[in-house]
Amino acid sequence: MRCWKVIIYLLLLEKWKTSDSSRFMMICSEWGRIMRKIYLIGFMGSGKSAIGRRLSFLLKIPYYDMDQEIVKKMGMSIPEIFERYGEPFFRQQEHEFLKTFRDEWCIISTGGGVAVNPSNSRLMRKTGLVLFLDATFTDIWKRIHRDANRPIVKSSTREELEALFTTRRRFYKSAAHILIRTEGRSLRQITEYAAFQANRLKSNEK
Ligand code: S3P
Repeated sequence: MRCWKVIIYLLLLEKWKTSDSSRFMMICSEWGRIMRKIYLIGFMGSGKSAIGRRLSFLLKIPYYDMDQEIVKKMGMSIPEIFERYGEPFFRQQEHEFLKTFRDEWCIISTGGGVAVNPSNSRLMRKTGLVLFLDATFTDIWKRIHRDANRPIVKSSTREELEALFTTRRRFYKSAAHILIRTEGRSLRQITEYAAFQANRLKSNEK
């Protein structure tokens, strides 16, 4: 009889350990220590900027688009930076931005390549809540395939982009605290869900 009780207790404990609420508690304790930013990560065209702007309006905290910040700093467009200095230089700029950007409560939409660099992911997880906007490749392709402002799209075939999407998705998943599926959801629904997650953590910050 006692043995059954122990087994049931262990099973319940295991369930709790893997449940959303225990993961949530872990994030809360990190958040309470140092987290101040909300990072949106995901592939190009997954809606990071659109959600970032809406989330900023809803939560009333400032919003920054990392690409735009780099464009401002360099005084040239992303395609120009790629062309003049090459992709590795652009990746350095992304890393610099993360390392040096001011310490304030804000929302940051990242470029699609940011979370692929493990030191970027570590930095984001240490300083904020990382939300992965998980869109399907079909949706993404519809949104980006004609975009001349994304050098990687311009220089790749559909098959190449899909392969990149599949490779990167693993990095996004492991960098994120929370994965948000976007398929079949409106921008408003996605924003409200992201705000709900941020508020849960913020109200536990003490
Ligand atoms: C890139 C994504 C772009 C931009 C650059 C490279 C990438 O940002 O940073 O063109 O490597 O996926 P978005 O994800 O906002 O399009």
